[in-house]
Amino acid sequence: MLYQALTAVFCILSALSTLAAAQTASNASLLDPSLYKNVNVTRGLVYHYYYSPPSQVGRPTLLLLHGFPSTSYDWRHQVAFFQDEGYGLVVPDMLGYGGTAKPVDPEFYKSSLISRDMVDLLDAENVNEAIVIGHDWGAKIVGRLANYFPERFSAFAFLSVGYFAPAVLERSFAELNNITQQVFGYENFGYWGFFSAEGADDIIESHLDSFFNITFPADKILSITDFAPLGALQAWLEANRSTAAGSYVTPEERSLQIDAMRDEGMTAALCWYEILTSTIERDDNQGIPQENLTIKKPVFFGAALEDYVAVAASQIASILQVSENTTTIQQYDSGHWVMLEAKDQVNSDLLSWIENL
Ligand SMILES: *[C@@H]1O[C@H](CO)[C@@H](O)[C@H](O)[C@H]1NC(C)=O
Ligand SMILES: *[C@@H]1O[C@H](CO)[C@@H](O)[C@H](O)[C@H]1NC(C)=O
Ligand SMILES: *[C@@H]1O[C@H](CO)[C@@H](O)[C@H](O)[C@H]1NC(C)=O
Ligand SMILES: *[C@@H]1O[C@H](CO)[C@@H](O)[C@H](O)[C@H]1NC(C)=O
Ligand SMILES: *[C@@H]1O[C@H](CO)[C@@H](O)[C@H](O)[C@H]1NC(C)=O
Ligand SMILES: *[C@@H]1O[C@H](CO)[C@@H](O)[C@H](O)[C@H]1NC(C)=O
Ligand SMILES: *[C@@H]1O[C@H](CO)[C@@H](O)[C@H](O)[C@H]1NC(C)=O
Repeated sequence: MLYQALTAVFCILSALSTLAAAQTASNASLLDPSLYKNVNVTRGLVYHYYYSPPSQVGRPTLLLLHGFPSTSYDWRHQVAFFQDEGYGLVVPDMLGYGGTAKPVDPEFYKSSLISRDMVDLLDAENVNEAIVIGHDWGAKIVGRLANYFPERFSAFAFLSVGYFAPAVLERSFAELNNITQQVFGYENFGYWGFFSAEGADDIIESHLDSFFNITFPADKILSITDFAPLGALQAWLEANRSTAAGSYVTPEERSLQIDAMRDEGMTAALCWYEILTSTIERDDNQGIPQENLTIKKPVFFGAALEDYVAVAASQIASILQVSENTTTIQQYDSGHWVMLEAKDQVNSDLLSWIENL
């Protein structure tokens, strides 16, 4: 029962990358800067996004949504693959990141508003119906798009993080920590508290190498001991601790991403957490009608079996509870960064799912 209550909880962290850095560093595996566009969405915020139209007749357009603390660069392996396969691609830097606007008032980060922004991007490219694929907090937005704009998508794919049910936020952050402590033996969302606290941006920005490696760790158990629990990440950073980054990020990609974080700062990106530990997101979710809470179209979930923040079993449960249509679940021996670490399997599984829709 506690377990069920948790089903959608979770989420995390990181990966960064950014167009600014992309433009100045070597071109290895970056998204082609000449294909980026800017659009001023309905609410007057400028979004920066990669756009490539379908090159084969009948191929749909994919909308790829990254999470914290990344940019569109997170999707480098998927963009290369699906573009070769003839698919259209719309890949934004999400609000607070990369070349997109970076308001520092958390109210701007309500899921209903960000969902509207995503539809504005599709409108700007005359895409009537897309397939949306999200990772981490991008996957939260996939769920909200299914709630608010189901008619604009033919299918919904979630990676690492499943359906973030509004019911999760009916519990306070303190209650969530107590429940996760009982269920998992550690507060797997404890780090939300640090990310929402005054001064977290400065602490991260002053220890970017330490932050990057614990967020993209080679040793995934560190998520349990030194990332997720209450107080752990702040202590790790203040001690400026070191650990090896995972080999799914090359040294070149790592330094590029760290430079990007240094240039952009963390203040805006952390708003994605402030809306969760306050009542902003909970209140915003009240606008979802009961009948829109389930997903009536095909769903894909890519579970990361070594993700100890967005724990696979509870993420799978969240997807099974919400999906009323065909649900495809694939599991990967991977940590949180499944589209980097298990890129080839993820690409081929998504392709066969899409081809069979
Ligand atoms: C850019 O990409 C091309 C083609 O992959 C490669 O030959 C060239 O060395 C790259 N340039 C840099 C600076 O990495
Ligand atoms: C975007 O639109 C708003 C009004 O909707 C306007 O105030 C703002 O200047 C525009 N920004 C840019 C960069 O065009
Ligand atoms: C609920 O879903 C329907 C489509 O099934 C959509 O037209 C409607 O706008 C959604 N309601 C809200 C409040 O988003
Ligand atoms: C969380 O657990 C602690 C210790 O059991 C308890 O004192 C506290 O009241 C609980 N808080 C909430 C919000 O449930
Ligand atoms: C943290 O450690 C790195 C090397 O791992 C070093 O370059 C940096 O100066 C240290 N930062 C602080 C604030 O001590
Ligand atoms: C981060 O990881 C890289 C790659 O394993 C390593 O060379 C570097 O020393 C690490 N830095 C810190 C601060 O942990
Ligand atoms: C499932 O999705 C397919 C394709 O979008 C649609 O034709 C069918 O009506 C859906 N079934 C249910 C039960 O919603």
